[in-house]
Amino acid sequence: MKPRKAVLFDCDPGVDDAVALLLAFAATDEIDLIGITTVAGNVSAGLTARNACLIRDHAGRRDVPVYAGAERPLRREPVEAGHFHGETGLGDLPISEPKQGVTPGHAVDFIESTLRSAIDAGQKVCIVITGPMTNVASALRRDPRLLEGIECFAIMGGARSEGGNITASAEYNIYADPDAAQYVFNAGPVVYAFGLDATHQVRATPARTARIRDLGSAEARAAAQLLEFSNALPANGPREQGAPLHDPCPIAWLLAPQLFKFKPCHIDVELDSSLTLGHTAVEFRATGSRLQNVQWAVEADAEGVFALLERYLASGRSGKA
Ligand code: RIB
Ligand code: CA
Repeated sequence: MKPRKAVLFDCDPGVDDAVALLLAFAATDEIDLIGITTVAGNVSAGLTARNACLIRDHAGRRDVPVYAGAERPLRREPVEAGHFHGETGLGDLPISEPKQGVTPGHAVDFIESTLRSAIDAGQKVCIVITGPMTNVASALRRDPRLLEGIECFAIMGGARSEGGNITASAEYNIYADPDAAQYVFNAGPVVYAFGLDATHQVRATPARTARIRDLGSAEARAAAQLLEFSNALPANGPREQGAPLHDPCPIAWLLAPQLFKFKPCHIDVELDSSLTLGHTAVEFRATGSRLQNVQWAVEADAEGVFALLERYLASGRSGKA
């Protein structure tokens, strides 16, 4: 069996973050999930932390700590996306107090201590980010030596050929904290970037959603309810087309890299223009002066991603049928 991949997962649950968490929590043989860190984004920092704990309950993974993080971007005013995720951030999923809450301590401190321990052990960590990159950028700006502990970043964010989803030219995660994104894209470690160009190919059609729902496990039922909430939103297009499944893509790549195709590039983020703030300038042309450290996802096997979700969500680690 291949060694498990050490993963730190930073997110802003968020309906699609929640499906990504369910997938990551279920992949116990492939992913050594060191911890979950949450950030203000789709909804407030308090709600994203609570939501991560609730999804952890659904998955029966109380062994994985959740740390609450940044309440606002590095420089900008917070911009939420509640219109895509509902007031609670988890669509119409029943909300209760989590059985286990966050671990005391700040997410940025946990990221720092995790990377320092990895360096001391001569290991490296893959950092998955599916929300604004505030926590990770804050930790690395505090101590750039932490970069030695990073194997790769796998991030959901950005847009090139698809155009934006929060403005005409920017995708939400980048727009919400463009300064943090610019830092991560140019920090040095390879970044596997799953932008809208790829995630818009992965649609939760009614047939695919029904297959998930019919699996019968508590995790699958929760995932199907989250997908159906997104599919019912007019902003996500016609229901029969299915809403794009953004945040599970980096996790699916960790589990089955063959499901995605990439092109090497350099990415800079627009930080100043009021018209194009958060735009990702994806430069495929190699020039001597710029890092070609980003792998931009250009193709995604949607059926393969859903087959993966079915496989892992059927197992029902929580044991609740
Ligand atoms: O643009 C899609 C991204 O923004 C996803 O991560 C979604 O959760 C929202 O945060
Ligand atoms: Ca997200």
